[in-house]
Amino acid sequence: MPDQQKQPRIDLWFGRLAADERRCALLQRLLDDEQRGRAEQFKTPVLRNRYIESRGLVREILAEYTGAPPETLRFSRQQYGKPYLPDCPELSFNLSHSGGYMLLAVARRCQLGVDIEQVKSRGNFAGLVNKCFAGPEIAWWKALPESEKVPAFFRLWTRKEAFVKATGRGIALGMQHVETDPETPGGFVQIPEPYGRPEHWRLVDLDFRQDLSGALVVRGEQPTCSWHAFD
Ligand SMILES: CC(C)(COP(=O)(O)OP(=O)(O)OC[C@H]1O[C@@H](n2cnc3c(N)ncnc32)[C@H](O)[C@@H]1OP(=O)(O)O)[C@@H](O)C(=O)NCCC(=O)NCCS
Repeated sequence: MPDQQKQPRIDLWFGRLAADERRCALLQRLLDDEQRGRAEQFKTPVLRNRYIESRGLVREILAEYTGAPPETLRFSRQQYGKPYLPDCPELSFNLSHSGGYMLLAVARRCQLGVDIEQVKSRGNFAGLVNKCFAGPEIAWWKALPESEKVPAFFRLWTRKEAFVKATGRGIALGMQHVETDPETPGGFVQIPEPYGRPEHWRLVDLDFRQDLSGALVVRGEQPTCSWHAFD
């Protein structure tokens, strides 16, 4: 539908993965052989259950859009790993999880990417900033008061990651080539040339919790977003 392409409607499904044994046993029945095999490879029960729960929930949610039973959905991956439904290619979706939370963005005929990250101090931020941020972003981040550096890092990081996930190329695209204006949300300053012009893409900062940073990126016009909780 032309209107949908002009102003994409994005459903954002968010919730906490409870990793509850009984619930996971039920959701596991929805997975295919490949997913069950991958679940077995996780080293701890919590990580295994989170995987089973997120995969099961993705099936239940996408089934609402396709009309097919969740256990019958077939998943394929694009060249660099972005999942899609070959039997329903007009359904666009992207998944992100962090710290036991999951966000799934769903739309029709829309190139999109989403990322959430738990906002907490970890590792060598300055090293990652030097490697993955663009020149003006590095200068801006380094000039911030110490107390603002962690949330600011994740603000910019999730924007970049949502972009590389929207393209389907992933982080190998080079995060430093994706630049946003830290003070002006909504769009991009620079993106790698094969992906068109920065104004072809829209960026939505998802400020919905203090402990999580999030971003949604879509190709096209400014999207309208509807939030949904899964249980
Ligand atoms: C996709 C990628 C950005 C994930 O980042 P992350 O913060 O660890 O994880 P998130 O929870 O936000 O997203 C993971 C989900 O994104 C989706 N995804 C996987 N590859 C994707 C891609 N190329 N583009 C968009 N989405 C992708 C999957 O649904 C995945 O969930 P799964 O692990 O349960 O299958 C990263 O793993 C990546 O770049 N992968 C592509 C392969 C690649 O280039 N690898 C080089 C590593 S140096």
